[in-house]
Amino acid sequence: MSAEQKSSVQEEIRALGGLRQGTARVVARKTGVPEAQVYGVGSFYHLLAEPEVDLRVCTGLSCRLAGAEDLLRNAQEQGLRVAGCSCLAACDRAPAQMKDRQVFWPPEAGGDLPGRVGPDGDPDTLALNLTAACRQEAPALALVQEKGPDWLFQELQQSGLQGRGGAGFPAHLKWRGVAEQKDPVRYVVLNADEGEPGTFKDREVLMRRPDLVLEGLAIAATALKAKEIYMYLRGEFLAPWQALQTALDQATSANLFPGLNFHLHAGHGAYICGEETALLEALEGKRGMPRLKPPFPVENGLWGHPTLIHNVETIACVPSIVEKGGEWFRALGKTGPGTKLYNISGHVDKPGTYEMPLGISLGQLLEVAGGMIGKLKAFSPGGASSGFLPASMADLPLDFQALQKAGSMLGSAGVVVLNETVSMPSAVECQLSFFEEESCGQCAPCRIGTRFLRECLQRFLRDRKNPQALAKVADAAWQMNEGSICGLGQAAPLPLTTALQHFPEEFQP
Ligand SMILES: Cc1cc2nc3c(=O)[nH]c(=O)nc-3n(C[C@H](O)[C@H](O)[C@H](O)COP(=O)(O)O)c2cc1C
Ligand code: SF4
Ligand code: FES
Repeated sequence: MSAEQKSSVQEEIRALGGLRQGTARVVARKTGVPEAQVYGVGSFYHLLAEPEVDLRVCTGLSCRLAGAEDLLRNAQEQGLRVAGCSCLAACDRAPAQMKDRQVFWPPEAGGDLPGRVGPDGDPDTLALNLTAACRQEAPALALVQEKGPDWLFQELQQSGLQGRGGAGFPAHLKWRGVAEQKDPVRYVVLNADEGEPGTFKDREVLMRRPDLVLEGLAIAATALKAKEIYMYLRGEFLAPWQALQTALDQATSANLFPGLNFHLHAGHGAYICGEETALLEALEGKRGMPRLKPPFPVENGLWGHPTLIHNVETIACVPSIVEKGGEWFRALGKTGPGTKLYNISGHVDKPGTYEMPLGISLGQLLEVAGGMIGKLKAFSPGGASSGFLPASMADLPLDFQALQKAGSMLGSAGVVVLNETVSMPSAVECQLSFFEEESCGQCAPCRIGTRFLRECLQRFLRDRKNPQALAKVADAAWQMNEGSICGLGQAAPLPLTTALQHFPEEFQP
């Protein structure tokens, strides 16, 4: 069976309207994939597994703060078939909802996508310059063709560019890692599965500068001698898909990227597919379950071949680095190299995406975002996986090192701010429920641990006088941290453990 046949399983199920009784048999006959495997794939993805739902309401933290639970209740009372769902990457428009993969929000939360980006891009100082118009040429690619891959890798190293998808791994090491492989078949993959609660920056880049994304991908493929480029967009990104497709059509008419084949792939609703190896499994038509690493994708990636996989923001930085130089990019940062797209949502006046020097503090970010609504009590600096920090840490640089030292992480830089009205145990419950829902279930420490932690917290919330309710949290947390296959299970205890550390008074029996 060809790779294309296998990867069409999700699309076949989608074409039949989702997984209902009998769907798996029909798809199995058509594709030659065993029926149980088809069922396994269909039941893995939220958007395929629950075809009967009319409306989904995001129950992520920023949406809860904006009244998502009332919205959900009202919709149920109106007799709609409604379900809660994980973050829809529209936290700046909370509470977000979705119908037929189309994400929408209350009118008072703002107009059409894209949302705010600021401060306005000064082309000499900001790397992504998201306010600029798309360009119909590829000058950075031309430079790479002229100067060659070794020059490019050197510029990337000089720039200090670190992956913007969460881990902050130096980009040049991955590019060199792929270039060094003997296998002549290589792939370049775009990770546009943006699903970390509090994060919506990649949506913004895809909507505003799809040209930068395409040119960055073309540069990677040219330097690494890859022919095929796969772009994996989360299934709910209908508008970003359109923007990218339009830019691709224009680039094709202008013959900007001869010899390169771009493939767009829609996800089907599974946060875990943002993890790079889970994403590769999903692209191969399987359930999106993370692989054990090593081997890493640079040597054993898509269909077993060397693969460069990058986040949207990372890849969009590449053309500016090529054109203006690695030193220029590095110097834009504050405590780390380059600029960073920070998202901010929750109790803030102007939620949105702000391109700022890497390493600004929360206080500085709040200044450009119009300030807090109420008084800052806690913040989550980098998505649900980064836990909670107290207001007293608002001066910390929002960079990879400082936040790690503080027991948190920059992650995707999806900052959520909470004011004095928020109860920390309920905020924690929201994050724990998310991890439990989105665990792929492959390994026991994560599958059982995420549920166990949520149950511990709920026991505490039911009976605050029970001193035993939270007694086993620390033990479960280390087991999850050491025994989980991927970052989801490793980070899932953080909302609870950091809240216990910084807000102990709210967890007293
Ligand atoms: C649970 C989990 C979810 C992730 N979700 C995303 C995501 O939505 N988008 C993304 O770019 N990276 C995500 N990542 C990080 C990717 O695994 C990977 O590090 C990234 O795609 C590499 O690209 P970069 O070097 O440009 O950051 C996630 C990681 C984990 C463990
Ligand atoms: S840690 Fe969780 S999400 Fe990651 S592989 Fe294990 S079960 Fe799946
Ligand atoms: S869209 Fe609801 S929390 Fe992100």
